[in-house]
Amino acid sequence: MTVPMLKMGLVLSTMAMLTNWMSQTLPKLVGLDQTVARPGTSEKFISVVYPGQDEGWQVFGSVSDVGGKCVCTLLAPPPNHCRKEPRHTRLRQITEHVQNVSQYLEVLDWRTSRDLQHIRDMEKKIIDVEMRVKTALNNPHTVTDKVLQDLEQSVLECVPLRAVLARFRSEVLKVEVLKREMGGVSSSLTQEQTHTYSSVQQLEQREIVLQSRLHACASSLGCGKLMGISNPVTIRSFGSRFGSWMMDSMISSSDERVWSMDGYFKGKRVFEYRSLRDFSTGHNFVVHHLPHPWAGTGHVVYNGSLYYNKHQTNVIVRYHLLSRSVLTQRTLSQAACNNTFPYSWGGSSDIDLMADESGLWAVYTTLTHGGNMVLGRLDPVTLELLQSWDTGFPKRSAGEAFIVCGSLYVTDSHLNGAKIHFIYHTDTQMYEYTHIPFHNQYSHISMMDYNPREKALYAWNNGHQVIYNITLLQEVKTYTDV
Ligand SMILES: *[C@@H]1O[C@H](CO)[C@@H](O)[C@H](O)[C@H]1NC(C)=O
Ligand SMILES: *[C@@H]1O[C@H](CO)[C@@H](O)[C@H](O)[C@H]1NC(C)=O
Ligand SMILES: *[C@@H]1O[C@H](CO)[C@@H](O)[C@H](O)[C@H]1NC(C)=O
Ligand SMILES: *[C@@H]1O[C@H](CO)[C@@H](O)[C@H](O)[C@H]1NC(C)=O
Repeated sequence: MTVPMLKMGLVLSTMAMLTNWMSQTLPKLVGLDQTVARPGTSEKFISVVYPGQDEGWQVFGSVSDVGGKCVCTLLAPPPNHCRKEPRHTRLRQITEHVQNVSQYLEVLDWRTSRDLQHIRDMEKKIIDVEMRVKTALNNPHTVTDKVLQDLEQSVLECVPLRAVLARFRSEVLKVEVLKREMGGVSSSLTQEQTHTYSSVQQLEQREIVLQSRLHACASSLGCGKLMGISNPVTIRSFGSRFGSWMMDSMISSSDERVWSMDGYFKGKRVFEYRSLRDFSTGHNFVVHHLPHPWAGTGHVVYNGSLYYNKHQTNVIVRYHLLSRSVLTQRTLSQAACNNTFPYSWGGSSDIDLMADESGLWAVYTTLTHGGNMVLGRLDPVTLELLQSWDTGFPKRSAGEAFIVCGSLYVTDSHLNGAKIHFIYHTDTQMYEYTHIPFHNQYSHISMMDYNPREKALYAWNNGHQVIYNITLLQEVKTYTDV
């Protein structure tokens, strides 16, 4: 099992290192009260939200003690958070400043020693003059008036230089002291900074490890509870008011093919585009002609086959796209068809096929279920109904339905103001009412399906093909203490 492997305790202790950066935005982002351990348990919860590549993974954890009294919540900071830390910035500024001052001192030092050299030369001259004066005094007979005048002039010129010399000497001394002091400050700052740097680097390292571990954890689990739906992005505006379009979530993401099936009534032509880009521009496509017409818009491409509801029947057809042939057909026993229990918009949408992380599903109803939505798990090869759940929600009151991680999400309308209204969880066989709004931009949704590979919702909205990103909240329970 994945849970012990994740070593949540380790992750938690790593996260504890980062409590300093706990954010205020936490309660706003998720209703974390939903993830808090039940009182009296010692469960640990980690929640991971993936709002998109821009923001990266956001990681929440909460730990509850046996009494259920101590609940602490941690938020890991986004990457590169540490670099923006104020202390770090200030230290860098100070160091820069010290470097500037040191540079200045170096220049001054160089200038001073050059001047000093000059002064030394002058000193020699003065000594020379003094010698000449002495000689002259000792041999007065050699001294002419001219020589005397020259000497006197030289001496007068040299006298102020002695004062300058003395001043320079003391200044050189001061500069020496200053230089030593600055050297000390600089080195202690460098030490401090190295220290800070290394702890910041350690934290950054931990952050990266934590992020990648949780990323790996979350994508290996890949499942969670739907928390939000982004604004839609219109990929293309094409076709009639009703239709269906999709990508295959079971094949490698390098295979970007897109399929579109326009209309809900007796259609037979399936367009296959090479990529999402080609789909958006309408280029590079091939056409599949189905041997039987389809009903509704509940088709799905799953692991290289198109699954659809055969027109005016409750038969499900598996059409293999590569060999362009029907591999299997099977009646979905008792399932109503012929627009008896469609979604709220009609269109023979009696049988809605869909796929999630765990396999292939059908949403339909039967007379014995009184029109309540039934969720059935299908064998993708034989199309046998493996298991079914009565959700209790009337199918005609539903706008659309899609499945994420074994939970069925049902909208309350296909028109403006539609929202996710009802959830049925197959694991607990429980339902709940909810209110997850989304923007119904073109006011008529005739198809909405989740693609677990792309972590996105695909919708056909009044002749526009749109995608919504979704936010999943992941809960990982662990009972092992590490
Ligand atoms: C979904 O998120 C991805 C990654 O952040 C982004 O590239 C894409 O445009 C988003 N799509 C929608 C429909 O918001
Ligand atoms: C250091 O000098 C550089 C270049 O002269 C200048 O851009 C920078 O602002 C200075 N830094 C400090 C802290 O004085
Ligand atoms: C997907 O199809 C391949 C063969 O094309 C098969 O080996 C694999 O088991 C299928 N996967 C699922 C989950 O049905
Ligand atoms: C659906 O309607 C068609 C045409 O009226 C009819 O032939 C067919 O038997 C109906 N199918 C079911 C399952 O009632």
